[in-house]
Amino acid sequence: MIKIAPSILSADFARLAEEIQKVENAGADYLHIDVMDGHFVPNITLGPPVVAALRPRSALVFDVHLMIEAPERFVISFAEAGADILTVHAEATRHLDRTIRLIREKGMRAGVALNPATPLSAIEYVLPLVDQVLLMTVNPGFGGQRFLAEVVPKIASLRRLLDRRGIPLDLEVDGGIGPETVAVAVGAGANVLVAGSAVFGAASVAAAVRELRAATANKK
Ligand code: DX5
Ligand code: ZN
Repeated sequence: MIKIAPSILSADFARLAEEIQKVENAGADYLHIDVMDGHFVPNITLGPPVVAALRPRSALVFDVHLMIEAPERFVISFAEAGADILTVHAEATRHLDRTIRLIREKGMRAGVALNPATPLSAIEYVLPLVDQVLLMTVNPGFGGQRFLAEVVPKIASLRRLLDRRGIPLDLEVDGGIGPETVAVAVGAGANVLVAGSAVFGAASVAAAVRELRAATANKK
């Protein structure tokens, strides 16, 4: 099952509720919410109060991507704010499996993310504990960057590993995803597609979501 997850990083922050309504009407599956702290990545975005304010405005699955150092400090706040999926970077937390277990204990689905240069071996032992793996296809911090084709073999290796072990995880890709790059990502085994600028930068958000979904059918 392919899922489309528009990232609000590229939305108009002065009209977040309206922007979210648009992607919900367009049939998006998740709302991808990028949280940055100015330490793990060189940018700052939003935190639990914004997520809590948006929660009653949308029925979409809130897919919260924490690009913050020591994310374990904020697991409870994001649970209370209404996150459905909470993804932490393997590079950012010292006790990864403890953090993942805490996310699940608080009633959320747990995700683990890897930067482009981090090998899959960093998460091998937590694969049975997570619901989703997010592979970054850009170096995180900003929307609108170019898809790194060097990550495609990593997507394919992870999908093979999951199939071999019989672990039915969602494999999310994030960064530079648009109509031209969707096919190669899906072809390699991704099934959750984050897209920021390709959706919110388009003249019609609805057409952009449709176009992305259509492009998944031409997988390479
Ligand atoms: C990047 C964020 C992404 C970003 C993607 O650090 O994690 O979710 O919004 O934006 P695009 O789709 O424009 O590359
Ligand atoms: Zn993201």
